[in-house]
Parts: sequence; C-alpha cells; structure tokens
Amino acid sequence: MEKLRCWRTCRRSRWRIFRSQLLAASLTFTVLVLYIFIHVLITGPNSFSLLWGTNSQPKQVTLLIWYEPFGRKRRLGDCHILFNINGCNLTTNRSLHQEADAILFHHRDINDFTDLPMRKRQSSQRWIWMNFESPSHSSWLTSLGGIFNWTMSYKVDSDIFMPYGYLFSKKSDGIVLPHKRKLLAWVISNWNEDHERVQYYNELRKHVQIDVYGRYGLELKDDNIIKTVSEYKFYLAFENSLHTDYITEKLWRNAFQSSAVPIVMGPSRYNYEMFIPRNSFIHVDDFSSPKKLAMYLKYLDKNTHMYRRYFTWKKHYDVHVTSFWDEHFCTACGTLKAAGNQHRTVTDLANWFES
Ligand SMILES: *[C@@H]1O[C@H](CO)[C@@H](O)[C@H](O)[C@H]1NC(C)=O
Ligand SMILES: *[C@@H]1O[C@H](CO)[C@@H](O)[C@H](O)[C@H]1NC(C)=O
Ligand SMILES: *[C@@H]1O[C@H](CO)[C@@H](O)[C@H](O)[C@H]1NC(C)=O
Repeated sequence: MEKLRCWRTCRRSRWRIFRSQLLAASLTFTVLVLYIFIHVLITGPNSFSLLWGTNSQPKQVTLLIWYEPFGRKRRLGDCHILFNINGCNLTTNRSLHQEADAILFHHRDINDFTDLPMRKRQSSQRWIWMNFESPSHSSWLTSLGGIFNWTMSYKVDSDIFMPYGYLFSKKSDGIVLPHKRKLLAWVISNWNEDHERVQYYNELRKHVQIDVYGRYGLELKDDNIIKTVSEYKFYLAFENSLHTDYITEKLWRNAFQSSAVPIVMGPSRYNYEMFIPRNSFIHVDDFSSPKKLAMYLKYLDKNTHMYRRYFTWKKHYDVHVTSFWDEHFCTACGTLKAAGNQHRTVTDLANWFES
C-alpha cells in the first residue's frame, strides 16, 4: 500500500516538476533567441560570431587609392604577405568610391579639384592626404584646408607617420665595414645653382676632392647607389630643402645602407638626433665654414680609430628603408583597421605642414 500510494503521488509530483522545468527551459530559450536577434539588429551580422567566441573573419577594410603615385600604374601588393596585416582590401577602382572605408590621395597628383569625389561623400569615410615632398615642393597647400581627415607624411606629428627610414634594434655583434678606398661622394640628379646645397658644395670642393655622381656627374657602378657609395668613407646627404623632419633616403639608403658617414644638410642637428644617434653623422652646422669641414674630413681620413667611432651604432641597430608604395598603402590600411570611429578634419593643412 505504502508503495502504491507513493507511486501515485510521486508520479504526480514528478510530472509537476518536469512541467515547471519545461516551462523554465522554453522561457530561457525564448530570451536567448530574442537577445541574439536584438544584438544582431543593433551591431550587424558580423558581430554574431562574437557570441560564440570564435571571431574567424578579421575586419575587412577597403582602401581606395585615388591616384597611382606619379601616374605610374603598378600592381598592388598583398599586405598580409608583405607586412602580416590582415583584412586589407586595396583597390584603385574608382567606382568603389562610395563603399570604400577610406580614400588615399597622393598630393603630387592632385591638379584639378573637380577630380575629387566630393559629391555623395559619406561622413564615416576617411580621406587621407599623403605627401612625401617637402613644403618647398608642394603646391596648392592653402586651398586644401577642411577637406581631408588624416595626414600621412614624413612629419612626426602626421596622423600616419611614415619616415623615409628608421633604425631598429638588433642583436649585438661586430661591425664589419666595406673596404673603403675613396673619400667623399655625392649623388645628385636635381642640380640647381640656387639650392643651398649646391652653393655649399661649390665652396667645399675647393678644399677636398668630391666625386659627384648622377645626371651631371659620374656614372654609378652597375647603376647601383649602394654599391657605388660603399667604397667611400663619407657621403653628402644634402636635402633639396630644409624643413622639420624632412630627412630622406639620402640619409637612410645612400649613406647608412652604404656604411658611409653622412654629412647632412637639412633640419637642425637637434631634429636629426630625434631619429639617429648623435655620433652617427656629421652636420654641416657643426662647422663654421666648408673649409673647416674639409679639414676635419681629412683628419678623419688619416685617423681610422676616430673614423670608426661613427659606426658604434651598428653594434645595436640596423637600417630600415621604407619601400614605396606598398609599405605606405599597407600602413594606411593597418591604421584604418585599428582606428575607432572618432571624426577629425584637417582644417589648416598648409600651416601645419609648413610648421
Ligand atoms: C573589396 O571591396 C569591394 C568594395 O567593398 C568589394 O566589392 C570586394 O569584394 C572586396 N574584396 C575583398 C577581397 O574583400
Ligand atoms: C570596378 O568596380 C565595379 C563595381 O564593383 C565593377 O563593376 C568593375 O568591373 C570594376 N572595374 C575593374 C576595372 O575592376
Ligand atoms: C571627414 O571630414 C569631413 C569633411 O570635414 C567630415 O564631414 C567628416 O565627418 C569626417 N569624417 C571622419 C570619419 O573623420
């Protein structure tokens, strides 16, 4: 009897428990479905995978390159293969100007404003102004205020800072210099008697032998700057104009990659020392006259120990020279991917760039 009664009542209560469990489960399920539905509605279908913790698709961004720099058509590199940056969709197809996340404009190629896709511009789309010439060689600047969202240049305070090169640390090992038979070289293609660098050269050559290569001078060995300059102890890394942060491949590639001590003319020594060790170069400002500089070079030529001190940095650093233009496009894309959605407009481009 006991057993039977229990069986009946127990069965009834078991059913009651099961019923309430079923109710709770279906309620939970409804709430979950509703939650997912609302979540997707608010944040878009891409975020769906976040719910399960397996975000397999990296964020894709499309960067439209409006002008192929200097009008030269080239194949766009793969940012993943070259720089391990995923999700970059680089294109030069202008029909994508509305859906692109950003449009990159190479300053040198802007010569007609009607060329810019002003109409139907999305406010979330970023326009990037890219320039690697100095202010002395950049026209239009004053008429370009209020148009772009980001700047990309050699200036340190650009939204996307792209120097012509930089030093990076490496494991310490010995310094091996190429064999150097000659004293002082200069490679120049843009010869202009009005340029300060040409005037300085004209004085300097009165006191020391300078081998000039390029359009108006000697021919490069195997058409190769580094091969040619490596035979020299010193190199004239003279910029075509003097501006803050404007330090070009004349220093990074022509001098440093050739292991020739750069004699620089450009921004101040203080500015150079923000990028390279103070004892890695000679600044023309260090001497009161070209003649004094020539005397110092002749002294170093005779004094190997003093000369080699200019390469102490090589124990700890290597040179990176940025490669036009893949590195620039991919860096822009990488920055875009990492950016939030805060808005910004470059209002006074000219004043900023010329500062
Ligand atoms: C690149 O972006 C365009 C425009 O949004 C799109 O049509 C194309 O499928 C994208 N390509 C890749 C590989 O994501
Ligand atoms: C550019 O994109 C448009 C729209 O996606 C497409 O129809 C066209 O074929 C593309 N042009 C080229 C040259 O890829
Ligand atoms: C880009 O600049 C334009 C023009 O000033 C502005 O309307 C837009 O909001 C800016 N967008 C972003 C994402 O900064």
